[in-house]
Amino acid sequence: MKVTVVGAGSVGASCAEYVAIKNFASEVVLLDIKEGYAEGKAMDLMQTASLNSFDTKITGSTNDYSKTAGSDVAVITSGIPRKPGMTREELIGINAGIVKEVAGNLIKHSPDVTLIVVSNPMDTMTYLVHKTTGLPKNKIIGMGGALDSARFKYRLAEALEAPISDVDGMVIGGHSDTGMVPLTRLATRNSIPVSAFLSEDRLNQVSEDTKVGGATLTKLLGTSAWYAPGAAVSALVQAIACDQKKIFPCSAFLEGEYGLSDISIGVPAVIGKDGLEKIVEIELNDAEKAKIQESAAGVTKTNGLLEL
Ligand code: LAC
Repeated sequence: MKVTVVGAGSVGASCAEYVAIKNFASEVVLLDIKEGYAEGKAMDLMQTASLNSFDTKITGSTNDYSKTAGSDVAVITSGIPRKPGMTREELIGINAGIVKEVAGNLIKHSPDVTLIVVSNPMDTMTYLVHKTTGLPKNKIIGMGGALDSARFKYRLAEALEAPISDVDGMVIGGHSDTGMVPLTRLATRNSIPVSAFLSEDRLNQVSEDTKVGGATLTKLLGTSAWYAPGAAVSALVQAIACDQKKIFPCSAFLEGEYGLSDISIGVPAVIGKDGLEKIVEIELNDAEKAKIQESAAGVTKTNGLLEL
């Protein structure tokens, strides 16, 4: 399994590190436009190999896409991250051009690649890749829901005063402060609905804290987060590499599922060797349906800013 990570910034480097540490990939290529930067990060990471017991070979490249040839999976983290006070949507002007070019270069050298899109505004960038590359829809996965669900579980565990391993939950909808739909009704602690432990007010607080999970970190760090985004991407890469058939909410191109079409947005999906193998349609109640419709309207509005 050869994995390329485009963008050797914090998210890209974290992703490469987590992929390597899990030791399932033979090779990770880190690529960046900044001269020597990816080479430096790759060398630094390789010098952790004997300490962290992995055999994955990590190499760096300054914008030479021939080094990415034959990649099975490629992760696009390129573009600018948000600064405190910015929304993900404000990044569209700069990031759309970059993501389109990066996706084109990757596919030129790896026609069978599965792309994982991380750059923001992520749902719109995933849609852009659909509209401009001609890759089949199972080979384009937007990473948002895996991260948002991890943040949801963190907040649930905090509220429940329970270990995270006891908690399960999922966030669907757009990867934005207003678009996320944490499914509190379906969240469980060891198969018991969390509503058995938490009041409606406390659950609403968990939802709100989850939705601004990225913004909270951006404020604290001065730039957007990287450990959890990197870990979420690596979990998707592993699900593909090891054909795990795990369900993650991902930004998927919809053609009628959840009553939505011509949009990429977060829905549960089975991830395995063929990428996004199946969209899982679950029964939502009226309030959840209304939230996902509202979330989709927001993503569609942002998509309207693309010059396709
Ligand atoms: C975040 C970025 C990756 O939510 O969108 O941290």
